[in-house]
Amino acid sequence: MGEPRHFLDLDRFDTSTLRGMLKIGLAYKRRQPPDGNAKPLAGKTLAMIFEKPSTRTRVSFEVAVRQLGGDAIMLTDTSTQLGRGESVADTARVLSRYVDAILLRTTSQARLLEMARHATVPVINGLTDSTHPCQVMADVMTYEEHRGPIGGKIVAWSGDGNNMAGTWIQAAARFDFDLRLACPDQLTPRPEILNWARGEGARISITDDPLKAVTGADCVVTDTWVSMDNESDSPRSSREKRHNLLAPFRVDARLMSSAKPDAVFMHCLPAHRGEEVTADVIDGKQSIVWDEAENRLHAQKGILTWCMA
Ligand code: CP
Ligand code: NVA
Repeated sequence: MGEPRHFLDLDRFDTSTLRGMLKIGLAYKRRQPPDGNAKPLAGKTLAMIFEKPSTRTRVSFEVAVRQLGGDAIMLTDTSTQLGRGESVADTARVLSRYVDAILLRTTSQARLLEMARHATVPVINGLTDSTHPCQVMADVMTYEEHRGPIGGKIVAWSGDGNNMAGTWIQAAARFDFDLRLACPDQLTPRPEILNWARGEGARISITDDPLKAVTGADCVVTDTWVSMDNESDSPRSSREKRHNLLAPFRVDARLMSSAKPDAVFMHCLPAHRGEEVTADVIDGKQSIVWDEAENRLHAQKGILTWCMA
């Protein structure tokens, strides 16, 4: 038996496989199921393990699986023996005997990789400290629905070099857009992800000047100043420190006006109005965040079908 069809990170796929998933997701969105098969997951079950909170990932995966004819079981670390110290490896081995795929949102990339190493069914990355690939698949789908092919476009990131930034970097290599990151020196993205992407020929620049990154961009992206990982392991003073470091990277109307006139604003949500983005931007005409949230459902149908059907 070959390796299960895991969906761990964008760097593991070639462009055409990722494009294939998006195409399937869009086909379901348009109610034109590939091969006329509306229920490719009939009889299949997805276990969803959340070691951190979630609204979008949890609900969109559960709804996607059900609409494709399958079933989803929601598990939290505290409601399972994982919370009492049973290993990820043993959990992977056992769940693989019951279900057809495992979605994991976890505190560390190492736990995701351990799950994948020991599972004999596909494992899907529902967010780690390092990446969030399901979100960026939806983001690419959303950008392209609004503005056409993302290849050759300029995407600007202003904020923390966090897990979302990590996957945008991988996406720059796979979807061939220019990525300009503006991050404080203390909060730059993981060097191993950057090095990988540059090795793939991705066009990525980093600055600590948001105006430089955003000027002339086609798409402006940001994310929270305090990710779930930062909450669990840092005292209040560290939260304040992050706010101070990141305040100059807030996406406000002035910064947004330096992008192209038809630039879009994206944010994976949850958002904090007045922190990483002002209300006039996220609730304004250039914001496409609600379509972005909706497309989690559609993009994930492509991912689920590729992994499980
Ligand atoms: N964007 C995102 O993954 O949201 P949730 O944390 O609500 O799943
Ligand atoms: N960077 C955020 C993304 C939430 C979807 C976090 O990890 O909390």
